[in-house]
Amino acid sequence: MTIHIGANPGEIAETVLLPGDPLRAKWAAETFLENARQVNDVRGMLGFTGEWNGNPVTIQGSGMGMPSLSIYVNELISTFGAKTLIRIGSCGAMQQDVGLRDVILAMTASTLSTPSRGIFKELNFAPCADWSLLKAAAQAAEAKGTPTHVGGIYSADVFYDERPDLNEQMVRHGILGVEMEAAELYNLAARYQRRALAVLTVSDHLLTGEALPSDQRQSSFGDMVEIALQAAFA
Ligand code: HPA
Repeated sequence: MTIHIGANPGEIAETVLLPGDPLRAKWAAETFLENARQVNDVRGMLGFTGEWNGNPVTIQGSGMGMPSLSIYVNELISTFGAKTLIRIGSCGAMQQDVGLRDVILAMTASTLSTPSRGIFKELNFAPCADWSLLKAAAQAAEAKGTPTHVGGIYSADVFYDERPDLNEQMVRHGILGVEMEAAELYNLAARYQRRALAVLTVSDHLLTGEALPSDQRQSSFGDMVEIALQAAFA
C-alpha cells in the first residue's frame, strides 16, 4: 500500500493503463478486462486489475493534470513495480486535419512546465514516448482503421485561460492536440527506465469549437483502449 493507492502487494499488474477519470477506469475495466476487481478507492481514484487475453492489466485513474498523475505514477513505479504505463485520455485538437474522435499517439509532449522542473532546472528536456509502444500502437490503429495521427502534443497546466499567443505558436509548430498529463508521464518513465505512451481521443477542437457530447465520449473511447492494450502486449 502507498499513501494514494490502497492495493496490496501483487494486486497491481506490470502493465497499467491510466485514464484521468476514475469512472472511465471503471468503465474500461468492466468493458475490456476479464475478472476485473477493484484494487483502489483511496480518494475515489478508482483502480482495477484484471486480464486482457490472459495478460494481467491494471487500469488506474490518474486524476487531471501533471501533479496528480505524478503522484500515481511515482507510486505505481516505486512501490508496485509498474513497467509499462499507457495514458488513455481525451485531448483538444489543434490542427485542421485532426477531427473529433480521431486518435492521437503522442510522440513527444511540449510544456511550459512540469513537476520535474525542479530537477531539470534550465534544461528543456524533451520527453518522448517509448518507441516499441508507439510503433505497436500505430500498427494496431492502422489495422483497426481508426483515423490516427502521430506527432507532438502539448501538455498544459491549465484548462481555462490558456494564453492565446501560446496556442497560436503550438498550431504553427504542428502540435496535434492539447491535454494535461503526458509530458510528466514521459519524464517519469525516462527517469525510471519504464515504457510509456499516451494514446488520446480527440474530444474537442480548439480551432473549430466543436466538442463531443458527453454521451458520445464513452463509445468513441473504446478504440483508444483497445489500441493501448494491443500495443502493451504486441
Ligand atoms: N485543453 C486541455 N486539456 C484537454 C482539452 C483542452 O482543450 N480537451 C481535453 N483535454
